[in-house]
Amino acid sequence: MKNGARQIYLDNNATTPVDPRVFETMRPYFSEIAGNPSSIHSAGQQARRAIEEARARTAALLGCRVEEIYFTSGGTESNNITIKGTALAQDKRKKIIASAIEHHAVLEPCIYLRRFGFELVKIPVDQHGTVDLDSLGRALDDNALLVSVMHANNEVGTIQPIQEISKLAHQHGALFHTDAVQTAGKIPVDVQAMGIDMLSLSGHKFYGPKGAGALFARRGIRFDPLVHGGHHERNKRAGTENVPGIAGLGKACEIAASDMAEEELRIRGLRDRLWQGIQGAITEIRLNGHPDQRLSGTLNFSVRYVEGESMLLKLDQEQICASSGSACTSGSLEPSHVLLAMGLPHDLAHGSLRFSLGRFNTEADIDRVIEVLPSIVDQLRAISPLYKK
Ligand SMILES: Cc1ncc(COP(=O)(O)O)c(C=O)c1O
Repeated sequence: MKNGARQIYLDNNATTPVDPRVFETMRPYFSEIAGNPSSIHSAGQQARRAIEEARARTAALLGCRVEEIYFTSGGTESNNITIKGTALAQDKRKKIIASAIEHHAVLEPCIYLRRFGFELVKIPVDQHGTVDLDSLGRALDDNALLVSVMHANNEVGTIQPIQEISKLAHQHGALFHTDAVQTAGKIPVDVQAMGIDMLSLSGHKFYGPKGAGALFARRGIRFDPLVHGGHHERNKRAGTENVPGIAGLGKACEIAASDMAEEELRIRGLRDRLWQGIQGAITEIRLNGHPDQRLSGTLNFSVRYVEGESMLLKLDQEQICASSGSACTSGSLEPSHVLLAMGLPHDLAHGSLRFSLGRFNTEADIDRVIEVLPSIVDQLRAISPLYKK
């Protein structure tokens, strides 16, 4: 089965394949409709209409006004605009509060801002990866500018109590931002009901193209642009728009809005089947993440006495793509900052494996993993000096 075996892709939190319907929506904007959306001729105006249609679809997914959506290159840029843009647009408040398990695309801009006199306060999480609300309450004061807490974590899938967090932030006059890169298009996000001031999303995490994302910023919120030049995106993001990418993002939002509930249930069923199969065949494993407040497609667990990287390589030889943490940190041997923040000892953090399921996975994919993973673990444990039968 090894050679010529079908590839089984279980790394959907890193990125997802483009849905064929999204691809078809994008296709004309590469060549047939090639105008610049800023041009006044009909080719330009056709491209402009595609962007505005995508804006309406994105706004519909989040429950906001169309003029509150700004297109960007993805989650990283939306997070950067939020953090640096709000900090630089004012000179009163100097404290930025973020959870200890944020993606580097949130933590690094905060760290960068230290050189301009800003302070980053990291809020701890509990063993399941849920933000500690008491610590957040203690960190908030009238110097707090922004609270940034991700809607769900990319590594373990834990979903945060966003409404409670935004309420606390607002009680102290701070803005609330959420990195919804792992939830937008997968579970409901309603910026009004959840009290969100700014939100980041990324097309390639929910079957749209890479290089297209959006920032939601509530009307009236002041933030500086990072890229200066033309008047694009209402002066907040200069540069000719990525028309095919934006059209694809809009289509991905439209599909997600209509299929989300059904898809979530199906993916959850697959994930539970996978976890049951693994639990039945492998001893001394530990689930990482919240037992139920967790993304339906995410399964992260630690396997005692083996390295995550070794399991990944062996799975890859079987044409199975998984991850041992966030895609951005794989390649480094540092244990995941998320797992460490949740209190995992180094050996268990090193022995973590993440399967993230998506729209195109089937029961056959799951059954194949259940078939091959136990023997991979047996082989690795057999050569582990720490393992005693
Ligand atoms: C939670 C989270 N935030 C931000 C990003 C970065 O998004 P993008 O790849 O669109 O820049 C990712 C992607 O790994 C993510 O998982």
